[in-house]
Amino acid sequence: MLTKAIKGVKDILPQDVARWQAVERAARELFKVYGFSEVRVPIIEHTVLFTRSIGTTSDIVEKEMYAFTDRGGDEITLRPEGTAGVVRAFVEHKMYATNPITKIFYMGPMFRRERPQAGRLRQFHQIGAEVLGGAEPSVDVDVLALLYDFFQRLGVQGVALQINSLGCKDCRPRYREALKSFLDARRDMLCEDCQRRIETNPLRALDCKAAGCKVATADAPDMSEYLDDGCRDHFAAVRQGLDDLGIVYSINKRMVRGLDYYSRTTFEMVATDKAGAQNAVAAGGRYDGLVEELGGPSTPGIGFAMGVERLILMLPEDGTPAPGPALFVAALGDEAQRLGRRVAHGLRKSGVWAEYDYAGASLKSQMKKADRSGASRVLIIGEDELAKGVGILRDMKTKEQAELPLEGITGELVKRLS
Ligand code: HAM
Repeated sequence: MLTKAIKGVKDILPQDVARWQAVERAARELFKVYGFSEVRVPIIEHTVLFTRSIGTTSDIVEKEMYAFTDRGGDEITLRPEGTAGVVRAFVEHKMYATNPITKIFYMGPMFRRERPQAGRLRQFHQIGAEVLGGAEPSVDVDVLALLYDFFQRLGVQGVALQINSLGCKDCRPRYREALKSFLDARRDMLCEDCQRRIETNPLRALDCKAAGCKVATADAPDMSEYLDDGCRDHFAAVRQGLDDLGIVYSINKRMVRGLDYYSRTTFEMVATDKAGAQNAVAAGGRYDGLVEELGGPSTPGIGFAMGVERLILMLPEDGTPAPGPALFVAALGDEAQRLGRRVAHGLRKSGVWAEYDYAGASLKSQMKKADRSGASRVLIIGEDELAKGVGILRDMKTKEQAELPLEGITGELVKRLS
């Protein structure tokens, strides 16, 4: 218990952090050129924020939230996703008052009590982006272009962009009714969950993985035929915009998404070699009613979130070994060691990564440590060297060695190593 992390929760170890930082850096760079600013919202929020936005019939709210009553009696939940908190902050801080369009991004841990398996964790990380204030199809195109560019920039292979339109609050009820009657007539073929969903959330039956549900819904009514003129035109303009920018996508008419706040455009970046529920590496869509639902002025919104763990699994191997220090100082004897520590300290102050041996054991063991640390060079100061007033600089790759006078050695090393 004491030496084992909670199920579905993972440490990100030092050897893996370089990849995380590379992903985060690439995201920050790209978000900047698309005009997005970072926002950092809390990990805990009032439970009602999530029930109201994600929806009481969603899997997340029904069975996956880490919700608790705190010591003061408040109902609190560890955020299962980022959009609700961002919208709450948008309304609370009246961000709409300063700019007609707000483009924000966030990174951080999310929590869902799902059944853990490869690519599905209970604490996972999202990098997400939200645009609040723009209803035009161009905004959808911009958000999709950003997502698409990001995957290209990272060189991720084997992913495909799928899009759909879920209609709006005016036309979706008609589709819901049609689907309800369709499902009702096939009730016996559906799994228990979907039988229940006929009343509460019939669209979810379309992406249920149960074999019977797949057969039963094979010729279900087509959502696209129920879109009203506004939603149809919007979707056509989004597709046109994507085509104009050379963004490759397909339409997945059965993509319904697991959160209730969506309207019109929805999309997923899916791993093409994986079937099933864990294949979405990123997902998002429009949520034109959410800001109002959460007490703000009527404001359209659209965004996405990428699952960082899933993304990292798909990154190409970069082949570059984890970098080690530029210099390791191996010094023998008290005086040489103190000198070595001063040299390493001087290098660090000049921005050069330097290490020195803390224990000051034999030179042989210090050289071994230097090797293991991945240092590119070692400065050796043995007793003989100290007496001669020199240090030996050894290149760990070429094994070449050069003598450097100890007088002014820090400056010389900074020059050579930075
Ligand atoms: P979501 O589809 O629930 O959407 O999650 C987005 C992404 O988070 C998924 O595609 C997946 O990569 C990752 N993810 C979700 N659950 C897990 C898990 N248990 N373990 C590992 N990764 C996971 C949202 O969260 C929306 N807030 C996206 C959005 C933003 N829509 C509009 N704006």
